[in-house]
Amino acid sequence: MAYTQLRKRRRRAIANIAPSVLDYCMYSIPIMRPKLPSADQLATYLKSIDGSRVYSNFGPLTVGLENRLAEHYGLNEGTVATVANATLGLAIALAVQQPAPGSLCAMPAWTFAASAHAAVIAGLVPYFVDVDPATWALDPDKLLDELARAPAPVGAVMPVMPFGSPLDIAGWETFRSKSGLAVVIDAAAAFDSLVPAAVPSVVSLHATKVLGTGEGGFVISTDPGIRRAVRMRSNFGFEGSRKAQAPAFNAKLSEYQAAVGHAALDEWGQTRAEWRDAADAYRNALGRSNQVFLQQGFGESWISSTCVLSFAQPAADRIEQSLADCHVETRRWWGSGAHDHPATASFPRTALPVTDVLSRSTLAVPFYRDIAEPEIGRVADAVLAAAGANR
Ligand SMILES: Cc1ncc(COP(=O)(O)O)c(C=O)c1O
Repeated sequence: MAYTQLRKRRRRAIANIAPSVLDYCMYSIPIMRPKLPSADQLATYLKSIDGSRVYSNFGPLTVGLENRLAEHYGLNEGTVATVANATLGLAIALAVQQPAPGSLCAMPAWTFAASAHAAVIAGLVPYFVDVDPATWALDPDKLLDELARAPAPVGAVMPVMPFGSPLDIAGWETFRSKSGLAVVIDAAAAFDSLVPAAVPSVVSLHATKVLGTGEGGFVISTDPGIRRAVRMRSNFGFEGSRKAQAPAFNAKLSEYQAAVGHAALDEWGQTRAEWRDAADAYRNALGRSNQVFLQQGFGESWISSTCVLSFAQPAADRIEQSLADCHVETRRWWGSGAHDHPATASFPRTALPVTDVLSRSTLAVPFYRDIAEPEIGRVADAVLAAAGANR
């Protein structure tokens, strides 16, 4: 083959590589380096699959993982339903509460696109609402008034725990009983800070989260009826027979993913300490600047796998560019908001001034369990210089 043809073919091959792989090569400090349990840590669990010859359909590892997750939150068995991923978990947790088909599902605009996709999958229409500037989340005390002005009937609400930060769960329990609406908490990144209640919460076990199985998730509720219904809807609508009881999905976690979940829980104490130490190192490196802030309580009362900085000025563009110049990768996890995608632009929304400011004044910086202190120091120096801040 001629040399030029070879070069063309190579260029085409490179163009087909996922952008994250190329980005990884371009940056000396990547935004993330997920770390799941090693092959050695998985071995016992994988061998048990060889023994059981059960590979999915709520096998022993999946049920065991659900029980361990319930225990982790101090709950009884029968309160956790694993699912294939949080997006489907959110859709199912909405569907089991049977909001009117085609009604609005109010959610913050300040969230990931998956929150909106889940509402659409559940047969609802996302309705994007602005967030509270202090918590970056919906405020249950203000939302009822807001919903009275909605452009169509509202059937459900999906509060989001932004980047894993804690949420006023009691406020949402009260909201649900006052409003009679279906409520599902998008706790995708909130494995650590979640406080379960009767209102179902959905946690992601994606590889990028603090506890990961590669892909996966779980729905948790103190109401055992929710777990039963989620199970049914995640398994073709089957419950005790092969007659489908309701429109449903196949959204089950396989035994292989459950094996990873067990190994990840085995080392959770160590994993959590590593995330906390990395957050501490950022806190020390950033100092007490009045220009650059960590999320409130981040690394102190709760941990997460993303370190999202906010700035006193809407300076994210400038800081992003400065860090890119230093070969430090950054990410706007939620872009300019969940309403601002080709797939979601036509859905109704309120005015979104807070979301707009957040999209221009926040930026995620490199964060992983084993990020080294000198790397954090380099990132913090570059951020503070770009923000014009002192320690
Ligand atoms: C707020 C939010 N909701 C939902 C999801 C979807 O989770 P999953 O990847 O498990 O489907 C994510 C993923 O990061 C998320 O950040």
